[in-house]
Amino acid sequence: MYLEKPVPPSTDKRWRIVDATMRRNGHQGHALIETLHSIQETFGYLEPEGLRYVAHSLKVPLSQVYGAATFYHFFTMKPPGRHTCVVCTGTACYIKGAPQLIAAIEEKYGIKPGETTEDGELSLITARCVGSCSIAPVAVFDKDVVGKLRPAGMAERAERCCQHVS
Ligand code: FES
Repeated sequence: MYLEKPVPPSTDKRWRIVDATMRRNGHQGHALIETLHSIQETFGYLEPEGLRYVAHSLKVPLSQVYGAATFYHFFTMKPPGRHTCVVCTGTACYIKGAPQLIAAIEEKYGIKPGETTEDGELSLITARCVGSCSIAPVAVFDKDVVGKLRPAGMAERAERCCQHVS
């Protein structure tokens, strides 16, 4: 069993949203599905480090966490693209233009949310409130949170993201 205190996989502020979900449930194992939902809604998908963090925080076996993550069809493990663009579609971002940001990516890359470009470079996903409402509308390119985006800037940012070697 784990002895040390669980530490989020990164300093990404979105983990605070996930932590709040676990705290609200007293870090009990029954919060597993709700916590996975929280990660998926915040990051757009589940990835191994996040699953390990949840297992540690809720004190449930990692195998059980993987079991839940792969059993339910509404959970997605890391998207297939080399780069990821997560557009926040939470209320603040929606009002400030998230649909236009999604449209800009659709137009430039021909992909809709949940899809990946044919060359496997970019996956477009949506998430609900990534915790940076004050700079809405927000998108996260790989790990970079970018706020106050406009459609033109969005397309340009996505292109820069794809040029990065990951
Ligand atoms: S609604 Fe987009 S960051 Fe909160």
